[in-house]
Amino acid sequence: MPQRDARFIVLEGLDGAGTTTQAAKLHGHCTQRGIPGFVTNEPTSGPIGAFIRRLLTSQEPGPDGSPYRPPESSMALLFAADRLAHSREIHTHLDAGEHVICDRYVFSSLAYQTLDAAIKPEWVVAINRGCAVPDLTIFLDVPVDVCLERLSRRAGASAIYETKELLEAIAKNYATLFRTYEKEYGRVVRLDGTRRVDDVQAEIVKAAQLD
Ligand SMILES: Nc1ncnc2c1ncn2[C@@H]1O[C@H](COP(=O)(O)OP(=O)(O)OP(=O)(O)O)[C@@H](O)[C@H]1O
Ligand SMILES: [Mg+2]
Repeated sequence: MPQRDARFIVLEGLDGAGTTTQAAKLHGHCTQRGIPGFVTNEPTSGPIGAFIRRLLTSQEPGPDGSPYRPPESSMALLFAADRLAHSREIHTHLDAGEHVICDRYVFSSLAYQTLDAAIKPEWVVAINRGCAVPDLTIFLDVPVDVCLERLSRRAGASAIYETKELLEAIAKNYATLFRTYEKEYGRVVRLDGTRRVDDVQAEIVKAAQLD
């Protein structure tokens, strides 16, 4: 019997905004309180997601040995394929009564893949038809310069979108897309993500009504 109070909560933001940090903390908060929760992320750790991650970090060689960089339309289709498979898993956890906390979801596809002017948001929506619809998306609002500063201190391979110019364009995309697609993809709340990790977490817990 599906537990109707289980909610699908998504964290969105620019690279470096803190979505991974906050998703893990929110899951920790649930565990501590004995609230059933499941944390997940996109791209997923499944086969399609793993391939996308290698593309995003220039670790997948193309035919000539240099990093394989498919067109953004291919990226959009890969993300949609990963998400539709992921949606089944999300529904399984929701049906089991667990809140699902997801680090990035469909608004990331909308905001990042439409950097290519040839890709229209309506097409991204069309290829994602049938994906699980979030109950709440929390956008961590962090200025581009702060994101870049945080990323410069973080270890690991940087992603192809981590430049000032691209992040500024992505920030604009998010703002417009939230207004247009809130109906399609559920309520969106913007929170100040520049504050201390614990302060941001407290705001997230309140917004997600998990306090
Ligand atoms: N509120 C915060 N204040 C200061 N530093 C933070 C804050 N939140 C996260 N960080 C740090 O910023 C860096 C980026 O955080 P995180 O990896 O959570 O971002 P992200 O949004 O998941 O990035 P990406 O989209 O690239 O995966 C990490 O080193 C993290 O420790
Ligand atoms: Mg992350």
